[in-house]
Amino acid sequence: MSSSKIRLVAAILSDRLVRDMNAQGRRAGFLFAASFLLLTAGAGRAADAVAYFGDVEKIFRNHCVDCHRAGGGAPFALDSYDAVRRRAKLIGEVVEKRVMPPWSANPQHGVFANDPSLAAADIAKVRRWVEGGMERGDAARALPPSPPRAEWQMGAPDAIFETASVDVPAEGPVPYRYVRVPTKLLEDRWVEATQILSTSPEIVHHVLIFIEKAAAPAPGVPRPWTPRWDPASLLEGSEPQDALKWIAKFQHYLKDMRVGGGGGLNGSFATSLSGGHGMSFPPGRAKLLPAGATLVFQIHYTPTGAQRESKTRLGLRFAKAPPREPLDSRSLATVAFTIPPGAKAHEVKATKVLPRDALLISLRPHMHLRGKSFRFIAEHPNGREEILLDVPKWNFEWQVEYILAKPKPLPRGTRLRAHALYDNSAGNPANPDPAKAVFFGLQSDEEMMIGYYEVVWGADPKPAATPSAARPKTP
Ligand code: HEC
Repeated sequence: MSSSKIRLVAAILSDRLVRDMNAQGRRAGFLFAASFLLLTAGAGRAADAVAYFGDVEKIFRNHCVDCHRAGGGAPFALDSYDAVRRRAKLIGEVVEKRVMPPWSANPQHGVFANDPSLAAADIAKVRRWVEGGMERGDAARALPPSPPRAEWQMGAPDAIFETASVDVPAEGPVPYRYVRVPTKLLEDRWVEATQILSTSPEIVHHVLIFIEKAAAPAPGVPRPWTPRWDPASLLEGSEPQDALKWIAKFQHYLKDMRVGGGGGLNGSFATSLSGGHGMSFPPGRAKLLPAGATLVFQIHYTPTGAQRESKTRLGLRFAKAPPREPLDSRSLATVAFTIPPGAKAHEVKATKVLPRDALLISLRPHMHLRGKSFRFIAEHPNGREEILLDVPKWNFEWQVEYILAKPKPLPRGTRLRAHALYDNSAGNPANPDPAKAVFFGLQSDEEMMIGYYEVVWGADPKPAATPSAARPKTP
């Protein structure tokens, strides 16, 4: 109870007490009033006091310890009273400013299922705990130790596909490596959870996995529709001189583009660019892994000074039955842009019109070190514009998948747009070279502009009207 509330309650009660005193005699009334005020004040203090055990330990456990523990990726652990107490002041600051847990979406646009942000009440609790002297509290109320993190978040996978060992040199940059692993699956499978693990995570910048060589579907087994990719869409909306520059350069990237039909500029089957976590889809949603498929692992190694042998594994959990809503991962991307040296806020746009009704499941911006901000916008067929996701302050280290709390139906003809700003000035602390003009490229000191999105496609809009029309091929 706040002190102003206590005062208010005390005033109302003392008013009543005055009447009581008149009825019952001064002395008794005075004693009653005094003891009541003491009790109220005491109760107020007890409710305000915040301890580690029984109070804020739970907040740190639920929102911080996943990263702030041995092997969790953060520079120090926050999994004990002493560890948290040692950094309490800094913790109070990063929590108050919402710097931690890391989350870059502007809360004014969209609500996301995986938003780890602390509730205002929890922030206030941490503040009171720090200001109140970081009380330990009763150790009997400590949470049981969290179990060690299992290797696979999904539990034991139904299938694990492992690459051959890759020899990674001590120094970079290393061109993307492509390692093919045949699945030898005789039937289509539906995948409801994926996770990518490496034997040397410290040198793996990212892994994208694509599907090649899918067998034709067995008779009577339906396959979900997917849009045909048009590489020319990479130039949509670009300046003519940038488009020409790309056309002159693209031979260089031909090999990368061919992999899995777009080389990551057209979505992927699985990715490690998800905050290091595995992904699992809710019941009724799954991704197709067609019979006969070969998995292509695109691996970007960023060496740290020692030569390494590295293996990568993909773990999968299969759904028991075909899903109601097959998932497809696609992207908006452009390759035709030049970011001038020193530019503080250079804008690059990509766009695509949805060829069918779609249920939007998630969004994932991708840029490199000069990224500054990123927005996904839906231009509805009726002209209304809606910001689906706004990331005002890009952080290269946090490549996050933003999962919509409520999947959003978008009618066919909706134009998806992505707007990115790049900061190529010396004021960007991540900028490797502000004196350089930056073009599309695969390495982190070059740039990318990709807006990945995951959807469930709607039914064929006119199946009855054009029964003999050529249907887009399923890759
Ligand atoms: C997704 C992983 C992750 C989560 C969740 C997370 N952190 Fe962090 N935290 C990091 C990493 C990585 C760093 C170091 C790099 C940086 O500062 O961005 C860090 C840095 C910090 C720092 C040092 C900041 C500085 O300026 O030196 C503090 C304090 C901190 N975290 C507290 C917290 C607290 C408190 C929570 C929970 C409310 C939390 N973190 C949740 C990953 C995480």
